[in-house]
Formats: sequence, C-alpha cells, structure tokens
Amino acid sequence: MNRRDEPLAAPPAAQVAQDIAEAVRPGRGVPGAKPGPRGATPQPDTQALRIVVNGREHGIASSPATRLSDYLRDELGLTGTKVGCHAGDCGACTVLLDGEAVCSCIVAVGQCAGREVVTVEGLAEAPPDSVEAALRRAFVDRGAAQCGICTPGMLVTAVDLLRRHSRPSVEQVLDGLGGVLCRCTGYRKIVEAVLAVAGTGGVDEVDDAPIAPIESTPRGAAVGARVPRFDARPKVDGTAHYGADRAPQDAHWLKVLRSPHASARFEYGDLDAFVDAHSGLAGVLTARDIPFNRFAIFPDLRDQPAIAEGRVRMRGEAVLVLVGERETVERLELADAPVRFVAQPPLESPDDALAPDAAALHESRPDNVLCRGRVARGDVDAAIAAAAVVIDGTMRTRHVEHAYIEPEAGYAEWSRADDGTERLTVFACTQTPYMDRDELASMFAIDPKQVRIVPSAVGGGFGGKLDLSVQPLLAAAARKFGRPARIVYTRPESMLATTKRHPARMRATIAADADGRMIAYRFDGDFDTGAYASWGPTVANRVPIHASGPYRIEHVRALTRAVYTNGSIGGAFRGFGVPQSTLLNEMLVDRLAERLGADPLEYRFEHALRAGDRTATGQLLRASAGLQACLAALRPAWREARSRAERFNAAAMQGGAPDADLASHAPLVADPGTTDPHRRYGQAKRRGVGLACMWYGIGNTVIANPSSMQAGLRADGRVVLYNGAVDIGQGTYTILPQILADALGVPLACIDQVCADTDLTLDAGKSSASRQTFVSGNAARLAGEDLRARLLARLGVAEPATLRLEGPIVSARDGTREARIDLRTLQPDARGDVLVGSGHFDPPTVPLDADGQGVPYATYGFAAQFAEVEVDLDLGTVRVLAMHAAHDVGRAINPTQVEGQVHGGIAQGLGLALMEEYVAGRTDNLHDYLIPTAGDIPPIRVHLIEDAEPLGPCGAKGVGEPALIATAPAILNAIHHATGVRMTEVPVTPDRLRTAIAEARS
Ligand code: FES
Ligand code: FES
Repeated sequence: MNRRDEPLAAPPAAQVAQDIAEAVRPGRGVPGAKPGPRGATPQPDTQALRIVVNGREHGIASSPATRLSDYLRDELGLTGTKVGCHAGDCGACTVLLDGEAVCSCIVAVGQCAGREVVTVEGLAEAPPDSVEAALRRAFVDRGAAQCGICTPGMLVTAVDLLRRHSRPSVEQVLDGLGGVLCRCTGYRKIVEAVLAVAGTGGVDEVDDAPIAPIESTPRGAAVGARVPRFDARPKVDGTAHYGADRAPQDAHWLKVLRSPHASARFEYGDLDAFVDAHSGLAGVLTARDIPFNRFAIFPDLRDQPAIAEGRVRMRGEAVLVLVGERETVERLELADAPVRFVAQPPLESPDDALAPDAAALHESRPDNVLCRGRVARGDVDAAIAAAAVVIDGTMRTRHVEHAYIEPEAGYAEWSRADDGTERLTVFACTQTPYMDRDELASMFAIDPKQVRIVPSAVGGGFGGKLDLSVQPLLAAAARKFGRPARIVYTRPESMLATTKRHPARMRATIAADADGRMIAYRFDGDFDTGAYASWGPTVANRVPIHASGPYRIEHVRALTRAVYTNGSIGGAFRGFGVPQSTLLNEMLVDRLAERLGADPLEYRFEHALRAGDRTATGQLLRASAGLQACLAALRPAWREARSRAERFNAAAMQGGAPDADLASHAPLVADPGTTDPHRRYGQAKRRGVGLACMWYGIGNTVIANPSSMQAGLRADGRVVLYNGAVDIGQGTYTILPQILADALGVPLACIDQVCADTDLTLDAGKSSASRQTFVSGNAARLAGEDLRARLLARLGVAEPATLRLEGPIVSARDGTREARIDLRTLQPDARGDVLVGSGHFDPPTVPLDADGQGVPYATYGFAAQFAEVEVDLDLGTVRVLAMHAAHDVGRAINPTQVEGQVHGGIAQGLGLALMEEYVAGRTDNLHDYLIPTAGDIPPIRVHLIEDAEPLGPCGAKGVGEPALIATAPAILNAIHHATGVRMTEVPVTPDRLRTAIAEARS
C-alpha cells in the first residue's frame, strides 16, 4: 500500500481562517473541543422531580427510569461523564451521589430525586486548595491520563477514596480504584498520583525527576523534559470531546442490525412496509445506499462491505441499518425487521478453512489463504540437521479484544461548497483520518478533497480504530436522508463487530552448535485473519521478519499464512503478530539456555543483536541496537530476584515459611503477608522469575511511510504546529511540540497546535506501528528547522544563532550582530501565518525480495523484561508480583510519557498472558471479557535506555508496541521457573495451568 500525500482540500479561504481560528489551542489544545450539542442548554426547571448536580438544582424531564448517566449527558449536556459499557462493568461513568461513588449507568435518575450528584465538571469547580483540585493537578503532572476516557471516573473515584482514607495505603488505593477500568496506563501513574496527593509516597522505583511545567521549560530543553501532556487539562476537566460527546441537534440516530450467524445467506422482506409501520423511523440503509460498498486497509484488497450483500461471513456483520429518532431505533431489534437468514456451516478455524473441500470465503482466494509471508536466510534445514542441540516447540494464541473504554462513535453530515459540489464531514474516533478520508471517497465515489475527517478525542485505539467502523454508515445515512446522522456503538456491538488480535497457531525449531551458539531458527505460523483482509497482510509479513527474535542467528526460515475463516476479523493490535511469535521464540530460547545449563539472561546477552550485525532479512544494523544495554540494566535485579525465588521455593518445598527477609530485600515485591493471608506457602505456592527480549521494526513494513508537518508563525509571535498525527493517548500532541520547540529554538510555551483535521493539517499517516514519534517527530523537526531557516534568512542572520520571540518582535543574534523584525509588518496567509516551515519524512527502506531479504524498517526498538510471579500449584492461579522493563527507545522525548507507554503495554501483555480470550457471543462485554484491573498490575521498574538512533528526531525511535511484546513470554518463562511447566497456549488460565501441572506430576 502506498498512500501518497494528497494536497490539502481547498475550502474557501474565509472558511479556512475560521476553522483555524477555532482549532488553534493556546499551549494545550485538543481537537473538537467545541460546545457539546445535546442539551448544552439545561432544560427548564419545571419538572416535579428535582436533583442537584454540581451544586445547581435541575428538574428531571426524562423518564424516572432513565439512567443517571444518560440524564447527565443528554439532558444536562454534562458529557464529562463517560459511558464505556452501560452495564456497571467499566466505571467510566462514576459520579458522586450524596458523596458516594456510584456507576451512574446503573442508577435510575428517578432514584436521585432530592439528592446531590457531583460529576467531573463539578470537581473542576472545586477551590484550588481542595483535594479535588490537588487530584486533578496530580493526574496532569504524573501522566495519569493518557487517552483520558477513564479519567473522569478515576478522578471521581479517587475523591471518594481520599475522603474515606486521607492517608491510604497502596492496597487501599488499588482496592478503591479497582472498579474503574483503564486500558492505557497500567494504572501505576494513577496510583502514584493518588498517593502523591495523600502524601503517602510513590509506588514504583522510578527516576523521580521533577515535573517540568510547560511555561518554564527553557529554550532548547523541551526534548527530554517531563512536561505534562498538552491535552491533559481538558481530560481532567471533562471537556475533551470523544466520539459520543458531540453531534448536531437535528442528527438522526442509527442502529445497526447484525447477523447472529457466522456464515449465512440472507434476504430482506418488505422494507418499505417495515419503515411505514414504525413512526419515528426515517428509513433503513442497505448495501445499495453505498455506491462502492467495499473497503480495506490495502486498496487492492477491498473485500469488506460496510453492509452485507446477501451473505454474511462473520457473526456481528451489519445486515441492515435503522435510521430515525433515537427512541424508535433503540427499541427495534433484529427480530422486528424483515430479514431472513439461511445459516451455513461456518469455517471456524484455519484447519477448517484449509481443508481441501472447504468452501471459499472469497472468490479471489479459493484456498482461503489471504497471503503468505517468507523470510529465508542461509540453509536452515542443513544447519538443524548438523546441530548439536535441537529443540522443537509450539504455541497457540486466541482472539484478543482491544477493549478500549470508548466504543466507536461519531456523526457525519453533508454540505455543499460554493461551487455546488458535495462535501462530507465526519467527526468520529479514529487512528487514521487520512486513510478514512480516502476510503470514504472511494466508497461514495467522490474526490478525497470532498471529505473532511475531524477526529474526536480518541478513548483508546491500540490498532482497533484503524479500520473503518461507523464512518461509512454515518455517511450513507446522512446523504440518503439529508440530515446529519450519529451513532454510538454499544459495548457488545463494539466487541462483536470490530477487529481482534489474530489467533495464531505456530511451531518452530531452534538449534545450537556444539559450542552452544544459536545457529538456526525455523518457524511456521498460521494466523486466523477472520472474515476479511483488514491487516492480515501486515501480520503475515511482519511476523517472519521478527520471528527469530533479536538474536544473532545465521540460518533462518520463517513462513506465515494469513487464513480466512468465519471468525472475527483479525486486525491490528499493538504488535501486528509479533507478540504471538515472540511467545514461541522466547520460550525456545529459554529452553535452549536451560538445556545448555546457561543463565537465561547471560545466554541472551551473548547472542543479542548489536550494531554491526545483520538481521534475518540481511539488514545491517548500523546503530541504535541497545538490547545488550537493556539486559545489562536488568542484570543486578535479575540475579537477586532469581536467587530470592529459589530460596523461597526451597523453603516452601520443605513446608516452611519463606525467608523472613524476603520483603526487605525486594522492595518491588509484595510482602508475603499480603499474597498469602491464609499461610499456605508450605503447601502450594511457588515463585518464579522469567525473562524475555524483543525487537520491533518502527513504522510500516517496507511500504511508504510518510508524514508531513507544518509550523506557522503568527504575527503575535505564537508558533502553530499543524499536527496531523492523531493522539490516541500515546502523546503525539505533546511529544511533537517538544521536538518542534527545540528544532526551532524557542521555548515550549510558544507553541500552539492545530490538531489532526484533514482540512487543516497535512497527512501524517496513521497512529500505529509505533511510528509517530520517529516518523512524524522527524517531520515536526524538519518543519521547525525549515521555519527557523526562513526566519534567519529574513533577518539576514547566519547559524549558529540565538532566536528570540517577544510578542510580535522576533530577534536573532549570530554572535556579531543582532537583527529584529516586527511580524506585524508581514502579510499573513489565509490561515493567519506570516511565515511557514514545512517538514516531510519517509523512513528509508528497501523492498524485500522473494526470500524476504531487504531493509524492511529504518530502525528497531529493543527491550528486555523480566517478571516475578507467584503460582498456586493447587489452584493454577498466577499472580505477577513485579515487572522489570528495560527499553531502548533511542531518546526519551518525554520520559513520563514513555514510562506510561511501558506501563500500559505491560498491563496489556499481562492480560494476553493470563486472562484475555475473546469468544464471539460469549465474552462480548467487559464483565465476561477480563482485562487487568488496578489490583492485577504489579509494581513496575522501568529502565530507559537511550542508544540514539541517528535517523530519529533527537535520536528517538518508538515504544508503543515494544512496551507489550516481551511481557507475556516473560510471564510464561517465570511460570516455568516456578513450576517446571512450559505452557504452550495463552491465556494461561487457572484451568489450563492446573491441568498442565497435574499432567506434569502424573
Ligand atoms: S458505563 Fe457505567 S460502568 Fe461502564
Ligand atoms: S487513560 Fe485510562 S483508558 Fe485511556
């Protein structure tokens, strides 16, 4: 796929100026922060039932049975209260009811009559010396809000907690926050923020460098500073607008009717009669309402309809869309609609789909193989045949759900430009506005310039909001019925209809020579790509490159297939298949070290790739390959932890108590008294410590990967970064301004921002593949350098120079002289900029040949992590006691943000290892689909290794996906260390582990 930069759309100049004026955020702006549309004006206080919300009395016009969350959002316009599940599972909707934290989605507003409610907006009104204000400051300063969708619920819950316990223990905080789910942060910085307010100290061993206020970050010191997020304030105030928080008042509501069958033919009955029979229903959408009803990630693989055309290939596929008044569409169900299905036997697994007589899901792929991936170097079969040590292994993984707390939501509307051409505007949560624009243009047969994508604040993505979801349905409805259209997916719908991590079935062989040298790795993997292509090709191509791990191995062959089935669509999910293959690779490396009698860390250290080595694709690593430095950073704690676990187990096997000094020697590990209140160590508990390494190519695999940025200088001396790199919680709206400030040579506080909007910002590509810091960071750097060069040229000053912005007066000094210019004398362009710098970066890569030889990525992230676990041999339960993570990030542009990414990745890796398994129709809610809660995440020690990447902006690479990849294999290796059992399937649920332990004992 090669998506070229398109020139910006060309709306009228006056419109541009207005849009820019609205979009520019002084210092800490976010897109879409406009007044909420629904009920922003309170209803007249004439109702009999009354309620006090944030100190003001209101009537209740809604039915008394209305959920309190809906009343707050829809009737009062208080959209700071978020809805992640409508079922009491996620805690995003938490408010204070008469001072007590409650899930407002499961409280009827009628129950609140005469009572007092406080929402996150109410916390924002608290005086500066209050606990509420202190918590909001601490969340900002400590990086406790990433995507921010959980933040209102977390803050409200924390207020309740601190009112109950003014000086809570760590356990009390973990317990108190346990009802609010966060998918981004790994909770540690949230806990840290709460404890900081309570004055009871930190929880993790972190480099406790001071927070650097944006306003006082000096010139040239923005990169590397722990500045708060630019977009933190609206997230803690509840004013950031996510997809469900904004829509025109007159918008129709949509509801999607979905297939209950994984494979079926279907036909409609009399749709006109159906519509006529339901007042409030404006009409329905079918596939015929979308001119080209196909989309995909890769334009040459467009196989997915937005609405099915007589055949469904997966459970949850859209078959009919209802359009009309909210109450009507919400009341109607599939059983009410004239849709008749004829179910067919589904192909549930790659085995089914690859059977010789299997029906083809798509005519273009009669064998159901979407694509294959291959990397081959050396003669792997001969090397294995001649090896002194050969170890085979298998690994199986399941569907994993992104479980971002914000379900898909947004609105669309059509308008006409002055020349009469149609324009489509979509406001929705997305990781990839420019791809959305191009796909919608394709589907509605219009020019991309006729489409404007305005990303909402994004309440978590992790790859799941890269594919289109609500957008084509909204566009079709708004066009057909001539009114704006809006939708908010329900939680089950979000989980049922969107992509998942590919389930994988893998086998591999690792071999060593007589000296114990790793010499060969052979890998075969089938990845279940589900009903449609989505990111299947990326997974199939990325995995073979990484399959043999970050090690010096001469002979490698790695083969993959992405296989169509009638399962959930396998999409992008933090790592594109590499987390799956790393589970197998790191188990085999561990087993090899064990067979050779080597220490697992030292064996990996000896074989680690380093600068000057060639990878399995033949790529020469010229620099910034810091795996050995990562392992060296972990070494002291690793030795101590292994020794401690072995002493623990020795005592436990003799039926005695663990070492009395365990806790004092292990500040990160929980006191035994808290993990074993019933004193069962002597009978069943074992501890283990396991390590894993990883590497990860930063950015797209081989294909073009460009990003473009602009920096504009205003007549008042403010600098505007036009930043199209959507911040989905990973921090691009903070990191890129930091890079720009230093490249331009001005204080960070001079930077304003226009955030992603396809009319206002250039194409920065998608927020995925850990690419934005490296790729868009370079584009921001180049834009800053370009603007600086233009300014100095105007001033007639040569480098090295010092630049000063003092309001409209810019001055520069080059050592011998100083020049000044009044920016008000320059002619502004349509956006209001008097000077503009541009930056464009596309990482240099070389296409892979038939054997996968080439340069697939410009640079790689490296990491090592180790886990300390405790296993109950009788119950099969695993508790992770501590995680230690060392990541070579090239340069930490903002260490607080990088730590937050590592924490969040570890939390998701822990879920992958121990609890997360999506089963369509059974676990499509946040009650049955388990993700880690605050109490599941152990203390985490992060080591940031800065082996600078010469191509990176200030040396930086990326960390979003690397953060997760080593965690699950480290936990599995730790389970082996504790129990002697090698688990070959994740998640390692208690039943699976108990069975494996029983088999090993028998
Ligand atoms: S929205 Fe209320 S608990 Fe999830
Ligand atoms: S910051 Fe908690 S869910 Fe994103």
